[in-house]
Amino acid sequence: MFEKHIACIGAGYVGGPTMAVIAMKCPQYKVTVVDVNEARIKAWQTENLPIYEPGLLEVVKEARGRNLFFSTDIDAAIRESEIIFVSVNTPTKTFGEGSGKAADLQYWEKVAREILHESESPKIVIEKSTLPVKTSQTMENILNANDKNIHFDVISNPEFLAEGTAVKDLLEPDRVLIGSRETPGGLKARQSIVDIYANWVPADRIVTSNVWSAELSKLVANAFLAQRISSINSISALCERTEASVQEVSHAVGMDTRIGSRFLNASIGFGGSCFKKDILNLVYICEAYHLPEVAQYWEWVLKMNEYQESRFVRNMVRSMFNTIVDKRIALFGFAFKSNTGDTRESPAIYVAKKLLEEKADVVITDPKAIENARIDLAGCEGNINYIEDPYEAARGVHAVAIMTEWDLYRNLSWDKIYASMEKPAFVFDGRNILDIEKLFNIGFNVFPLGHPPLKHF
Ligand code: NAD
Ligand code: UGA
Repeated sequence: MFEKHIACIGAGYVGGPTMAVIAMKCPQYKVTVVDVNEARIKAWQTENLPIYEPGLLEVVKEARGRNLFFSTDIDAAIRESEIIFVSVNTPTKTFGEGSGKAADLQYWEKVAREILHESESPKIVIEKSTLPVKTSQTMENILNANDKNIHFDVISNPEFLAEGTAVKDLLEPDRVLIGSRETPGGLKARQSIVDIYANWVPADRIVTSNVWSAELSKLVANAFLAQRISSINSISALCERTEASVQEVSHAVGMDTRIGSRFLNASIGFGGSCFKKDILNLVYICEAYHLPEVAQYWEWVLKMNEYQESRFVRNMVRSMFNTIVDKRIALFGFAFKSNTGDTRESPAIYVAKKLLEEKADVVITDPKAIENARIDLAGCEGNINYIEDPYEAARGVHAVAIMTEWDLYRNLSWDKIYASMEKPAFVFDGRNILDIEKLFNIGFNVFPLGHPPLKHF
């Protein structure tokens, strides 16, 4: 009764939303999302999805039970489907050769072998995860080394969604990239993936390429995005010394249409599960191809990010009279960006740990990420409180530090917060979201990023 059977192995931040949108837009296909993680699969079947993403529940509910299914029966999904997306995690390797830089491909390879083991007919296998350039070669070698006389086509279709805007990004992508071998079989397989997206994505936004370009473009896109943030963050340090304002500079620079205004917000540093790991991977690949200058060039994007995080904490300690021992400090936000509960590589983790090392008492508040914060800081020594209400979190603290740009924090009653804090009261705005003049007039000592501080002493 369905025109095509599609499986997705990996029901995480990418697999879940991507497949939900495909199922919603293509009721003629049966879409089954599978994962080894039973709790995750169960949660996908409830109102309480395993990830927070605006608008996602509505999309899931429209298709779930009709043509969208979640299951732990990976083998059955493989056997049934002619098209298999693989969106398992590809973290940085933490052991052996390439430790700390290379991508850990063990989950991907396990899946490839499982596909090989279970398949009884030809399949198109799609790299949805972010992978090193040339991985599809390895995948083809594994998959096609079979004595079942089954042929597998490997396609690269990297995902460009950002967390917090995943549904919008999937419904209206800037582009969908589909890379394949340029053989008759490869081109035919590529067309069948183009046909899926053509159900809702305009033809001029579906870009095809050779498979290596598709794999590499994903790493390069993330490297360029992260590079912009490191560039503006480096300038934020200079602004603080020169009385320029980083917001004014990024506005003026971004108005040049060749540069563009997006992704020029100075911050405490970029977080998220991918920028760091993908740049490390790019660096590793460049080193492996004996291109040390290229490797170092991209490595500096990460070094600048670490500098920005450490500089933020250093500035807090210095500004609060060189000691924060036993001072209570509230971190407003713990997610790596707003509109997500995800805290992977969040700069807030680094900041919280450093403040604890300085023997401060830390209060964490976040509308969606408190549970993840507890996991991230489990085992840390020191006094940590988790309080959902920001007003309660700020009560009796010496300082508030904005870690995540939640709209909620822009619109708080800062008079009320000031009244309940220890004096002198400090605000460190790691996201430049607050009205600094207003806060200064209330009585706060305000430390924005990339802008000279507004102090009462
Ligand atoms: P994730 O950790 O949220 O999800 C991966 C899922 O794969 C997990 O649920 C895990 O249980 C499952 N898995 C692992 N091994 C498995 C196996 N052998 N069989 C079945 N399931 C298995 O990861 P994610 O954030 O969805 O990222 C997945 C990939 O997509 C990564 O390569 C990442 O770089 C890339 N990516 C992520 C984002 C993002 O915003 N998170 C965006 C674009 C691309
Ligand atoms: C990023 C990319 O934007 C996606 O295109 C890509 O698919 C994804 O990585 C991935 O491969 O995982 P994501 O990490 O979800 O998406 O979120 P971003 O919006 O890119 O933000 C990343 C970090 O940069 C956040 O910590 C954010 O606060 C920070 N950022 C972003 C800034 O500090 N300044 C900015 O101007 C923009």
